[in-house]
Amino acid sequence: MSPAGSLVDSHGRTLRDMRVSLTDRCNFRCLYCLPETEAAQNFYRGRWGQMPESKPITQEWVPKSHLLSFEEIERVIKLAVRLGITKIRLTGGEPMLRQELEKLVARIAAIPGIEDLAMTTNGSLFAEKAQALRDAGLRRVSFSMDSLDRDNFKKMTGRDGLESVLKSIRLAKKIGFAPLKVNAVVIRDINDHEIESLVEFARGEDISLRFIEFMPLDSARAWQREMVVPGTEILRRLQSRFDLRLVVNENLSSTSKRWAHADGRGEIGIIAPVSEPFCGHCNRIRLTADGKVRTCLFSVTEHDLRSILRGGASDRELDRWLRGVVWQKEDRHHIGEPDFVPASRSMSCIGG
Ligand code: GTP
Ligand code: 5AD
Ligand code: SF4
Repeated sequence: MSPAGSLVDSHGRTLRDMRVSLTDRCNFRCLYCLPETEAAQNFYRGRWGQMPESKPITQEWVPKSHLLSFEEIERVIKLAVRLGITKIRLTGGEPMLRQELEKLVARIAAIPGIEDLAMTTNGSLFAEKAQALRDAGLRRVSFSMDSLDRDNFKKMTGRDGLESVLKSIRLAKKIGFAPLKVNAVVIRDINDHEIESLVEFARGEDISLRFIEFMPLDSARAWQREMVVPGTEILRRLQSRFDLRLVVNENLSSTSKRWAHADGRGEIGIIAPVSEPFCGHCNRIRLTADGKVRTCLFSVTEHDLRSILRGGASDRELDRWLRGVVWQKEDRHHIGEPDFVPASRSMSCIGG
């Protein structure tokens, strides 16, 4: 097990980044995450649009009593920070669905030792609470936005939400959340024709646009390798259109490779976990909304922290337990290999 006072795994990686999912629920139904209907589930078979009356898929949500309370989340984060975590990212599901989120943010922001507090959101509900979140101490936000075309946005997310997301992004910029990032999951033949226009948008707003390779984390288990647009292909296309300069990134644990535009307006990031895995330097651990610790996005087992917390464990016991869990962190994912086993839950439950 790792030495006292740090979170080290058996592969020698020291963990610094904790991603905390606040809810498994989401008000969007992205087809790469939580497709809503059989048609959406089957988009990869080219049958999209031919099943307009298709049956809805019912999702079983985590019961409310299983969600960690703000007190419990704060306690776990405090403990993790004492063990060396410096970066906290709030995710979901859609974290904005959590009532009184700004109160939780204020509690977390007050924990000494946190150097970076950020949130990933679909942006649809962000505008209402943007200022309250900023006042509570949230510093950074990443928005998910896969399309700038109203119909295609709706096709990908299951909701007519483009305008609300655009409004949120512009408001976040105005209020001073920085650096501001927009994430787009790229799926071949669905939105790959939009990568240039997404970059143009980011240049106009002077923000970062990051393209993410589609990973096999969708609830439909529809993922197929042919649907992944490799990062190198995205880069080649963008290089033929824009004058890009590689940004040297000192943070080896970063998920993205970055390029700046020659005129300094906007940035491009490519997150290529499928074609160019970055597991060797992974420093991330995840806490799900129902209190399970996941040591990898693709973990097939979860570690039940909730029952230990609720069973009255002392901080010392929790420390020891967490260090033992981290020690077992997987060395890497096995996407595309014959022995690949899908993660035990989809992205909305795990927390992006
Ligand atoms: P910053 O660079 O600090 O903003 O954080 P980040 O790169 O973790 O950003 P963000 O939270 O927006 O994550 C972007 C996306 O990268 C996620 O939505 C996931 O799709 C993917 N991702 C994040 N962490 C991991 C990871 O550990 N493994 C893999 N395979 N993908 C990840
Ligand atoms: N592959 C890649 N990224 C995904 N996300 C959700 N599901 C997938 C997937 N199957 C990303 C979303 C969002 C974050 C929460 O996770 O785009 O940015
Ligand atoms: Fe880390 Fe697992 Fe992601 Fe690899 S797949 S970078 S080990 S969380």
